[in-house]
Amino acid sequence: ERFLASLSDLGSAVAPTPNRVADRYAAVPVSSPGHFENTPDTDPAIASHRDRMRALLARVPSSTLGLDLVRVDKAGVLDELLGKAAAANWGGADRRAVLHQVGVALEKNRDVLLEVMVAEAGKTIDQADPEVSEAIDFAHYYAELSAAEVDGATPVPARVTLVTPPWNFPVAIPAGSMLAALAAGSAVVLKPAGPAERCGTVLAGIVRDALAAAGADPDLVTLLQVDEAGLGRELISHALVDRVILTGAYETAALFRSFRPELPLLAETSGKNAIIVTPSADLDLAVKDVVASAFGHAGQKCSAASLVVLVGSVARSQRFRTQLMDAVSSLEVGWPWEMRTQVGPLVEPAAGKLLDGLTTLGTGESWLLAPAKLDESGKLWSPGIRDGVRRGSAYHLTEYFGPILGIMTADTLDEAIDLVDEVDYGLTSGLHSLDAGEVRTWLDRVQAGNLYVNRSITGAIVRRQPFGGWKRSAVGPGTKAGGPNYLVGLSGWAPAPATV
Ligand code: ALA
Repeated sequence: ERFLASLSDLGSAVAPTPNRVADRYAAVPVSSPGHFENTPDTDPAIASHRDRMRALLARVPSSTLGLDLVRVDKAGVLDELLGKAAAANWGGADRRAVLHQVGVALEKNRDVLLEVMVAEAGKTIDQADPEVSEAIDFAHYYAELSAAEVDGATPVPARVTLVTPPWNFPVAIPAGSMLAALAAGSAVVLKPAGPAERCGTVLAGIVRDALAAAGADPDLVTLLQVDEAGLGRELISHALVDRVILTGAYETAALFRSFRPELPLLAETSGKNAIIVTPSADLDLAVKDVVASAFGHAGQKCSAASLVVLVGSVARSQRFRTQLMDAVSSLEVGWPWEMRTQVGPLVEPAAGKLLDGLTTLGTGESWLLAPAKLDESGKLWSPGIRDGVRRGSAYHLTEYFGPILGIMTADTLDEAIDLVDEVDYGLTSGLHSLDAGEVRTWLDRVQAGNLYVNRSITGAIVRRQPFGGWKRSAVGPGTKAGGPNYLVGLSGWAPAPATV
């Protein structure tokens, strides 16, 4: 009980910091950041907040935010843009004070950021709002880290950090990556993901304006609005790019590495994440957290649960399955500008096709709840639950983005952990159990960067749950975003020479 109480002190989540294996900066002592508090989300239970949300959702269908995006022909443009970024520097500006001002500006522009996320990136408002809070948290947290002391270590200077974020967290992830690079003293070139270009444009504009208002050079942030085709190699290989922060597929990180092996790369990559439910679990809580983790943003998160592993009597009885099916079939599917929507659209242009593939059952599998295409474009799908996912099957081992959850079964917790650890990735992992011995066993064995007990496995909170992966879920130093040694890993700080 004492052990569980200490877990609940951590907000019922356990995220070992730093990563137990990959993080070679774990031993570098960083002084504690100064005062920091997490930013509250908009609260729909408060009438004025709810009215604000309604008003902004009403604006979405005619939103023009980010539509001023002007793509330039890439020929010749990289030299000019990267040259401008490389010339920008912090001069005498106080990074800590400026980054706090950026945090204030992000809060002032919360509704603008929400509007463009809902309009462009398929985010429902309940999913978009915590992203803005996270972006604000990154600004204030990294502001403090920029002033923290690192014992006897020196940063490797970088003029230009290239930031290549994903489309599924179109504000929090680019903001976090940009603000970390800025806090580490670098200029930033942001290349937003294709389906989230408008979000990137609006975000970069807010940050640039805030930098200028706080007395820093706005060109510390440059938006790269170029056509993607064939750009990767040219961009990564460019002599003015000093390092890259990537969040995306493992294959993309490998490609970047192949273009320029010596370039410092900090990448958070793919995931295939599971929640284990044991007979000691509070099943009502487990159903709630599995549903949130699997179907939030229609399952399009690297952190999402796409597998639940039922142990022993939970696997043998129908109770958990029935409750899960009831909960999932009650979810409202729809467009993100409708307040009632809980499962929004698939975002990738090819997603409809992708899901057609996802909906083909493997040997021994059956639908507990069959997914259905709800519109012609193939973007809206009712969620599905596939039962009987087999060990070693494609669904067990492959990352898919979509509103489909697979059920696996195991006789014992150890067997369940084996199933989880057989996956090549190790990003997030969950356990629902009220047995302290089980929790200890799982914590000792499971191979993932972020471990959550009796909680959903998405939505890491800055400082409380530093976020990053293990195995094929991270490439580079393995340091965690929103954690105390992220800037250290990012900058490739060299430990002080040993004194004799
Ligand atoms: N940081 C995001 C989450 O925790 C990916 O869900």
